[in-house]
Order: sequence, then structure tokens, then C-alpha cells
Amino acid sequence: MISGKTKIFAIMGDPVEHSLSPTMHNAAFRELGLNYLYVAFRVSSSSLRNGVESIRALNIKGVNITIPHKIAVLNYLDELDEFAKMIGAVNTIKNECGRLRGFNTDGKGAIRALKEKVKDIRDASVLLLGAGGAARSIAFSLAKSGAELSISNRTFSKAEDLADSIERKIKTKVKRIPLKQEKLKKVIAEADILINATSVGMYPKENETLVTSDMMHSDLVVKDIVYKPVKTRLLREAEKAKADTIDGLSMLVHQGAESFEIWTGQSAPIDVMRRATKEALESG
Ligand SMILES: NC(=O)c1ccc[n+]([C@@H]2O[C@H](COP(=O)([O-])OP(=O)(O)OC[C@H]3O[C@@H](n4cnc5c(N)ncnc54)[C@H](OP(=O)(O)O)[C@@H]3O)[C@@H](O)[C@H]2O)c1
Repeated sequence: MISGKTKIFAIMGDPVEHSLSPTMHNAAFRELGLNYLYVAFRVSSSSLRNGVESIRALNIKGVNITIPHKIAVLNYLDELDEFAKMIGAVNTIKNECGRLRGFNTDGKGAIRALKEKVKDIRDASVLLLGAGGAARSIAFSLAKSGAELSISNRTFSKAEDLADSIERKIKTKVKRIPLKQEKLKKVIAEADILINATSVGMYPKENETLVTSDMMHSDLVVKDIVYKPVKTRLLREAEKAKADTIDGLSMLVHQGAESFEIWTGQSAPIDVMRRATKEALESG
């Protein structure tokens, strides 16, 4: 029941109307009986400063930040947690009595999703496809977790820049792989985990994939971060190769769970969040 005591949470982005975060977080708030409400605000780049200022003015307790503001928002926050500072992007803000603290939960969400199928990421050999915003957060989290990381990207210079940045900040080696089928095939043959962090395979181009079943093996764990559709072509190819799979919904839910835990200090009801998000996705 919304009342004068209801605490407000939000997502800010542009566009934001299709975000699944309101459905996911409101389901979690309901499940735990919290008098909290999560809404979506479309905030243009030119209004971002005012948007962030309104978090203080309206005493909004927590905010998710999405495309295209994850980097620009750093200019308007009071503090950053260590990981957000390292990668230079924020997707979660906590309002601590008017002080705005920025976090990044994308990479941690991906690691939590991976841990559903992989016991130990330390020393696991991982091929990450992509060097965009999501890939960046995942790559840093993997490197911090001790994975042996290879990065491949269509624009090779972006893979090189990301690898350079990780090597500088985490002092670990990262391999740079050109996005060519024969190169990928060789790396995958030796890999434990393959992650697609590109937008390839996303609706409406859902028949596209960068890797097919003949390039995979049955000991591989294949994770796609694309969640629309939930079962992407890449995951279907992985099933053909008898590899284990993790869908993009898992990361979405786990990064949301991380934000939820930062805001509330309580464990997130993962199953409820996943069910609500999946239903919203399936109903279009
Ligand atoms: N599951 C989750 O929680 C979650 C979270 C965040 C994002 N996502 C999804 O992840 C995907 C990427 O998001 P993002 O924010 O990282 O986007 P982004 O910053 O725009 O990066 C897009 C990435 O995809 C690559 N790419 C795009 N089209 C390609 C093609 N035809 N062939 C090869 N590579 C291609 C880009 O390569 P270039 O550098 O060469 O352009 C880049 O690496 C989206 O589908 C998004 O919905 C999921």
C-alpha cells in the first residue's frame, strides 16, 4: 500500500520504458513486505545533472543508472566504491543521507550467475566476446576473480584498450584475440567458459551468433548476457554441443540482486525476481 512512508527507488536512462528493473524490484519489495516502490524515469543526457540532483531533493533512496548515463553520471556523485572507480562506470546509486555513492553491479551479477554452474572461477580459462559497457564490467570482475581471461571484439582496438586497462589496474595478463572464426575456435578448444557480452543474437536479430556448435565442446560452460530472447541462438548452439548454458536473465537478476542488497542490506529473493522478470519478458 503506497503511503506517506513509502520509500522510492528508480531507474534513470534514455530510453527506459522497456526496462525490466521496475518489475523485478517491485516483485522483490512485495515478497519481503517492504513499503518501497520502484519507478522508471526517462532522463535525457542534457538533464542528467538535474536528474541526479533530484535524487537528493526528493530523497529517492536508491537508483539504477542505465544507457547512456553509466559513465557521465560519475561527474555528479559524491563517492564511488572501489570497483566502480576502477572500471569508471556506475549502474547503482545509494543515497546515504544526501550523499550519493556509486557502485557497479553488472560484473558482480555476471560472476554470481556463473557461480550457479561453475564452482571455482579462479584459474578458469574464459573467452569473453565484446568490449562494450557490459563487457568492461564483466572483464574486470573476471580478472579480479583470478580467471585467465581472453578478450575478443569486432573492433580489435577496443579489446586491446580494455585488456591494457585491466593489466594496468589489476596486474594480470589478458590475451587479445581477433574476432575471426578460426582464432575463436582455437581459443574455445582450450577454454572452460565462453561468454557473449556483445549484442549479437539480440531481438530482432535473434538468429545471429558469433560461435556455432562445431566450435564448442561438451566441457564448456556457455553464458550469454543477451536476455531477449532468453534462449539465444548461441545457447541453442551450446546445447547442440552438449555444453552447459547460463542465460542472460541470470545476470540481469543477479546484478539487480546486488543493487537490492546494497540498498536494503537484505538478501534478495532471487527466485521471485527471476520469475517476475521472465514473465514480463515473455509477455512482451
Ligand atoms: N544480462 C544483463 O544483465 C545485461 C546487462 C547489460 C547489457 N546486456 C546486454 O548486453 C548487450 C551489450 O550491451 P552493452 O551495454 O555492452 O552494449 P555496447 O556498449 O553498445 O557494446 C556492444 C558490443 O557488441 C559488439 N557488437 C555489436 N554488434 C556486433 C556485431 N554485429 N558483430 C560483432 N560484435 C558486435 C560491439 O562491438 P564493437 O566494439 O566492435 O562495436 C561491442 O563489443 C546488449 O544486448 C544488452 O542488452 C545484458
